Amino acid sequence: MSDTVEEIQNTEETQDFSGNYIDKFEDKNLEEFFCGKLESWEKIENTFLFHGENATLELAIFSSHILRFRYGHDGYFEDDFSYAIDPNYQPQDTHYIFEEDEDLISIKTDVVECVINKADLKTKIKDLKGTVIQEDEKGYHWQDHKYYGGTINISTKVLQPYEKFFGLGDKSGRLNMIGQRKELWGTDCYGYGADTDPVYKNIPFFMGQHSKIGYGIFMDNTFRSFFDFGKERNEACSYWAQGGEMRYYYIHGPKLIDVIKRYAELTGKHALPPKWALGYHQSKWSYYPESVVRELGAEFRTRKIPCDVIHLDIDYMDGFRCFTWDKDRFPDPKKMISEMKDDGFKTIVIIDPGIKVDKKYWVYQQGMEGDYFCKRMDGPLLKASVWPGLCHFPDFTNPEARAWWGTLYEGLVETGVDGVWNDMNEPATFEEGTFPNDVRFDFDGHPCSHRKAHNVYGSLMARATSEGQKMFLDNKRDFTISRSAYAGIQRYASVWTGDNSASWEQLRIANIQCQRLNASGISFAGSDVGGFIGSPDGELYTRWVQMAVFHPFFRTHSSGDHGDKEPWTFEEKYIDIVRKFIEMRYEILPYVYTTFWQHSTTGAPMLRSLHLEVHDDPESFFREEEFFLGDHILVCPISEAEATSRRMYLPQGVWFNYWTNEELTGKKEIKVKAPLDQIPLFVRAGGIIPMQPKMQYVDEFEFDTLTLKAYKPVGTTESYLYEDKGDGYEYTQGDQSVKTFIAELEADKWKITQKVKGDFEVCYKKYELKLHGIEQAPTSILLEGEEVIKKGRYAKKVLTIELPIDFKEIIIT
Ligand code: GLC
Repeated sequence: MSDTVEEIQNTEETQDFSGNYIDKFEDKNLEEFFCGKLESWEKIENTFLFHGENATLELAIFSSHILRFRYGHDGYFEDDFSYAIDPNYQPQDTHYIFEEDEDLISIKTDVVECVINKADLKTKIKDLKGTVIQEDEKGYHWQDHKYYGGTINISTKVLQPYEKFFGLGDKSGRLNMIGQRKELWGTDCYGYGADTDPVYKNIPFFMGQHSKIGYGIFMDNTFRSFFDFGKERNEACSYWAQGGEMRYYYIHGPKLIDVIKRYAELTGKHALPPKWALGYHQSKWSYYPESVVRELGAEFRTRKIPCDVIHLDIDYMDGFRCFTWDKDRFPDPKKMISEMKDDGFKTIVIIDPGIKVDKKYWVYQQGMEGDYFCKRMDGPLLKASVWPGLCHFPDFTNPEARAWWGTLYEGLVETGVDGVWNDMNEPATFEEGTFPNDVRFDFDGHPCSHRKAHNVYGSLMARATSEGQKMFLDNKRDFTISRSAYAGIQRYASVWTGDNSASWEQLRIANIQCQRLNASGISFAGSDVGGFIGSPDGELYTRWVQMAVFHPFFRTHSSGDHGDKEPWTFEEKYIDIVRKFIEMRYEILPYVYTTFWQHSTTGAPMLRSLHLEVHDDPESFFREEEFFLGDHILVCPISEAEATSRRMYLPQGVWFNYWTNEELTGKKEIKVKAPLDQIPLFVRAGGIIPMQPKMQYVDEFEFDTLTLKAYKPVGTTESYLYEDKGDGYEYTQGDQSVKTFIAELEADKWKITQKVKGDFEVCYKKYELKLHGIEQAPTSILLEGEEVIKKGRYAKKVLTIELPIDFKEIIIT
């Protein structure tokens, strides 16, 4: 089970003062126990209990695509409780066929068949054509661990030929995890690299793909866990946790993108954020005092570099006491925030979990009075150091502590703060890295130790933060960003990838992490643009900005101790390009917001690695730099110094180079020019990209023309435009609209139709339709059947036509 075959011989060596014996937890020599042969079975609604000699398999049919496996040994199951599953999720009443013969039991839904071997309770999942998708090798087994006094629960499957593995949150190594082992134990990993593991987040969801079939496994277990994709033995894939029960969901595709959508049904989606949160954010550790923040804002506006949000890092606080202000640095935060707001800036503040032990500090006092802080197993409060010195830490697994934590945001919201940045919530401490294992937690009424609560701590802090802000935001949308996470975090927060560094390799890692987070249910993700540690040169910073324009969360952040990283701190030639790209983010905002809406309604990831869009092209599985933002935009960042072109894979289909309008046919590697002011950027044939004028911040002004950039189709392509107020919840009552544009090409007729659902009132009065890919001036333009040729302008192969926003059909010949 482990790389380190170390015999556990004496407890002194294996157990430190805090009970942290789990580093030497795994021992290959421990006896393995197996389910044994089937003795009896029973059925309760859509759930079967297969009782083996030594363990019971509970198989629940959640839908034709989702099966849940739980294993209980020693005669019992744990309480069926989960922080990850969306409380609104309901298993579906599912049609299936049950068959039994002497050796096997078969349960067949309309999509997959699960076969259970009576001799040993091993399972096999096949599609209805009989292709084996997943198959127990050793299957479920466990080891009793003498020193910890509990079990390690393991599931071992056959590694299928050419199987590839994706997902698992923010892992920084190769996108396809074949041949690797990964660990989930959220860690403050300052300056991490491609080989660092574990990192900050704990998302026990991965996807496998082989034989053109994709599936997902979500192991809903918060203990320290491991995923071995053929590293230990190249014929096996195993996943295991150091405690709890083996509980996993098999999620069928066969397309990987559908696996992700189904995982989102189970664990939830991001709700629409306030639109400003999709603008550009500027951060540094730390902007203070107030005059610096004001100057920063003024500089953005004077230089006409768009920006929506300024982040205040820990130095705004009074001695790092959360929910306080340093009155010398920020004498009147309310006034400052309000005046910044007048200039279009939102303010986000950082909040860490550590509460300074200081009996004169009101948060400390309330925490003590309410008994909300974590305790050691033998009674005393846990004390460990973070920024403010010795701290106590709320038990966010206690619903009362969460509710209390929520109330603390009243003051910040009242001061005008628009969003909250939760950090150090792995939880991180300076002495031992994290809490000792004996620390006690409530776990919503399932008392446990840190071993079980660690991996979910960050998510629950973010949850309390999000729920708290909502109470005071007067029907505005909340915004939370978190460094640590467990599965399901997307219901409460966005995430960033933590303390990366300023290097080209780290730009590539950031791109992989953001794609992987998106594939793991967390679309609203971004990296510290330019790298947190160190200082990028102008070229690296520019290339990173160009990439991050197309990542959902877009923020420059830096540790501040290695020089400045505001856009204007680089040489003039870079400033202009950075400005142009940040402006571009604002121009494509209608598309970005629509893509977010698609995620929040369907669960589709906003960023999509190539294999999610072109799952039947084997080449797409080996590419990790190219990615899609939404349905139609394909990007491949420049990730090397001094490059003015790069090779990339253009997937099957027809594509338009955004910069040159060149039409290209895919399924091949191409070389693309990318001078410093361009990133390789392509739009799918038939795609329509809604664009607005550039602005300095979201909703800076009302505009009267919305541009629709349309690219000549091949066959039929649909595009969407989702609109609402960009804040508030009226959209849930119907104050929204969805426009569907259908582009079709038949012979030389290019037809675009528009269907509108909903009647949200937009500010613009007309569309400017820009048609790309037209080789010559058109001979006829029919709008709702009437000739309007004179209203079009044709230049440089782009035809521009003004259209009423309620047009239904236009045909260009
Ligand atoms: C952590 C965070 C970083 C932040 C710093 C100070 O290192 O990851 O983003 O700036 O703490 O709060």
